Amino acid sequence: MLTILKNSNEESIRQIDEEKKIRNTNELFILFALGSQFDHLIKLAFEKLGVFCLVADPRSVTSDDIKKINPTGIILSGGPASVYDEGVPFDTKIFDLGIPTLGVCLGFQLWAHYIGAKVLGANKREFGVHTLHIQNNDSLFKGFGNTTRVLESHGDRIEPYEKFEVLGTTDDAPISAGKYKHLYGVQFHPETTESENGIKIFENFCFEICKAVDRFPAENIAEKKIKEIKEIVGDKKVLIALSGGCDSSVVAGLIRNALGEMSGRVMAIYIKGIDRPDDEKTVMDNFGNESWLQVKIIDATNQFLEVLKGKVTMPEKRLAMREVYKEVLEQEIKEFDASFIAQGTLYTDLSESGVGHDGARRAQIKLHHNTNLQFSVPELMPLADCVKDGARDIGRAIGVKEELLVRHPFPGPGLVVRIEGEVTKENLVIARQIDGIYVEELRKAKLYETVWQAGAVVTNSMITCTKGDDASQGVVVALWAVWSVNGFTAQFAELPYEFLRKVSQRITNEVRAVGAVTYRISDKPPSTIEWG
Ligand code: XMP
Repeated sequence: MLTILKNSNEESIRQIDEEKKIRNTNELFILFALGSQFDHLIKLAFEKLGVFCLVADPRSVTSDDIKKINPTGIILSGGPASVYDEGVPFDTKIFDLGIPTLGVCLGFQLWAHYIGAKVLGANKREFGVHTLHIQNNDSLFKGFGNTTRVLESHGDRIEPYEKFEVLGTTDDAPISAGKYKHLYGVQFHPETTESENGIKIFENFCFEICKAVDRFPAENIAEKKIKEIKEIVGDKKVLIALSGGCDSSVVAGLIRNALGEMSGRVMAIYIKGIDRPDDEKTVMDNFGNESWLQVKIIDATNQFLEVLKGKVTMPEKRLAMREVYKEVLEQEIKEFDASFIAQGTLYTDLSESGVGHDGARRAQIKLHHNTNLQFSVPELMPLADCVKDGARDIGRAIGVKEELLVRHPFPGPGLVVRIEGEVTKENLVIARQIDGIYVEELRKAKLYETVWQAGAVVTNSMITCTKGDDASQGVVVALWAVWSVNGFTAQFAELPYEFLRKVSQRITNEVRAVGAVTYRISDKPPSTIEWG
C-alpha cells in the first residue's frame, strides 16, 4: 500500500483506488506532513475516526496532482519551518482549489500568509496547555462549550486580519482558530492528548465541514504485521535486539507468531553495560527458556566506556553509544548468519531523530540509538508506524506478558542519557543505584503504574553537604516522572511530597556520592522526557 503520496502518476492512482475499494469508499483525506513532531498523531486521529487518510509529500505533490486525486479534505500539519523565513515547500495553488482544508499550527500560518495575513514571531512563545475561548460553535467547534483546553507549541503568531472569521482566541493568540472561505486553521495541536477532546475537532472537520459519510472498522493490525514478517523473512534467520522493554518484547512476539516455534532461526541479543539493574534478569526470566529463541548476553561495558571517554555533550555521547550498539549487533549478525536484524524502533524514535514520514524540513530533537544505522542486512521494524500505546495494544493482541508491556519505556542509549558530562565507571554505578532505589520506591508506593515513565539523573552540579561531621561536595541527582499517553507530549507527574522525601532520604543515605536530590517540574514541550 502507498505510504507516502509523491505524485499522481498511474501507479499512485491505482494504489489509491485499490485501497478505496478495500474500504468500500470514495472518500480520501490528504495529510501534508510539514515536519511536525506530531504529524503522525494526526494520521492516528483520522484512523481512529475510521477515515482513509494518506500522507503526502509537500515538496512534490502539486495542485495538479490534487485536482486529479480530488480528495474529500486536506490537512496541513505543523512543522519547524517559518512562513516568512526559510519558507515552506508547498504548492499554495492548492488553496485555490476550493477543497476544505484544515491547517494545524504552521499549516494554518501557511494559508493565512497566502491570503495576505501577517505572520510574526510572537513576543512570547506559547508552550503548554492554554484556555481557548471559542467564538463560534458551528463547524469546527460544534458540540464544545465556551472554552476548551488546548496544547500550544509555537513561536510565530497570526495577526488579526479583516478577511478572517475568528473561531477562537487564547490570551496570547488573538487568532487561535480561524476561517476564510473553505480554509480552516488552528494554532494549537488538537492531535495531542493534552488538547481536551481534540479528536472532536478532526471529527467535525471530516463529517461537518467535508461532509464525509463513510467510516470503517479498524483492521487487525497485529495480524497484518505478522503476515508481512512471514512474507519478508521466509525461511531465513533473524537476529533481534532485545532489551526486555515493551517494544522489543512485542517485536519478539510478532516474530514468534510469524515464524512459529521452529528453533534455530531466531537469536536475541541483550547488550549489557549501560542498562538498568534489573534488565538482564527480566530478559532471562521472560525469554531465557523459550524453544524458538536463543538469547545471548553480550557485556559491552568496556567498549561503551572506551568510546564515551572524553565525550561530554549529550549529542556526542548519543553518537558514540550508537557505534558500539551497531558494532556488537553487526558482529552477531555475522556469527549467526542472520539475514535480518529486528528492532523495536517506534515512530517516536524515527520522528524525533528527524526521519520518518517524508515532508518538509523536520527538526532533529535527538538522535535515537536505533535509527538510520545502515546495517549490512535489512532491518525489520514492525513498530515503526506505532507510538507506545499502539505497540502495547499489539502486544496485548498477541499475548505478550502484561508485566513486560507496562514496564516504563527505557531509552536505547540507557543510562548514558541519564548522566551529565563524561560517563565513567563510577557515575554508571551511581546512576544504577539511584534508578534502583527510585523504581523500588515507586513500586512500593504503588505509583509505578500511575506514571508513564520515571528516571533519575546524575547531574554535573555539586552541592556542599555535610555527612557526619565533615563538610564535603556531593553530586546533585535530578529525579523526574511524567504522565503521558504516547511520549510525544508529557506532563510532569505530581508525586506526593512524602514519597519524594522518602526517596531523597534513601538516596542521600545509601549512595555516598550524592549530596542532594531535586525533582523536575517541566512539561514536554518544551522539555523532552529524557535529560539528554
Ligand atoms: P524524549 O526524551 O525524546 O523521549 O522526550 C520520548 C521517549 O523516547 C525515549 N527515548 C528513546 N528511546 N532510543 C529509544 O529507544 C533513544 O535514543 C531514545 N531517546 C529517548 C524516552 O525514554 C521517552 O520514553
